[in-house]
Amino acid sequence: MKKMLLGMILIGLVSMPAYADDSGGDIHYDQPVVGVLFSHASHGEDAGLDCDSCHDDLFSMEARAVQDEPDFNMLALSEGRYCGACHDGEMAFSASTRCASCHEGAIGFRRALGLEDTGARH
Ligand code: HEC
Ligand code: HEC
Ligand code: HEC
Repeated sequence: MKKMLLGMILIGLVSMPAYADDSGGDIHYDQPVVGVLFSHASHGEDAGLDCDSCHDDLFSMEARAVQDEPDFNMLALSEGRYCGACHDGEMAFSASTRCASCHEGAIGFRRALGLEDTGARH
């Protein structure tokens, strides 16, 4: 009985659409490609930013709403839109470099959202 309850809780966690946490937190994109991470923790005062730097001109306060924009892609970034408003090689590292800084990839995405058992738990 206890085992069954635990199983149900685990299934609940896995199926929860945990794309972001409550605080702004980490936002994981999967369109058009799977596995881009935006971290609020990396974009605070330490980076010289406040909420107004992005909200609401560049991004709304709704996780993954921007994925509805058909031009949410690398071309737009290189033209200074979305993340590219800052990631231009001057204010922050250029979006045409360091791909893996933003692209956590499919494995990172699935791990962050608990979509598969990586077998690495203690
Ligand atoms: C460098 C840009 C940037 C800064 C600075 C920033 N945000 Fe965000 N925020 C984003 C992005 C990107 C999203 C996701 C929008 C999307 O996916 O459409 C977001 C989404 C959010 C969300 C929605 C999260 C959810 O789960 O739906 C909240 C709440 C939020 N931000 C709060 C804040 C607050 C409060 C601050 C200041 C302390 C802040 N943000 C600063 C870029 C930023
Ligand atoms: C308002 C400006 C601004 C916007 C918009 C912005 N960033 Fe940044 N970002 C910065 C600054 C400033 C830094 C810190 C300086 C640096 O690393 O070059 C940073 C750092 C980062 C880092 C490195 C984090 C670390 O811990 O080293 C990543 C990854 C990143 N941003 C991804 C993104 C993504 C993805 C988006 C769009 C969803 C985005 N940023 C939008 C300004 C911005
Ligand atoms: C500053 C963050 C950032 C950096 C650096 C970055 N990307 Fe992206 N990339 C994004 C975002 C945001 C998206 C759109 C969201 C998604 O597809 O999940 C995206 C989407 C893409 C896409 C699908 C859309 C398209 O334009 O075809 C490809 C392919 C891609 N990136 C390749 C790259 C490569 C290759 C590099 C390194 C040269 C790179 N990215 C560096 C943030 C970044």
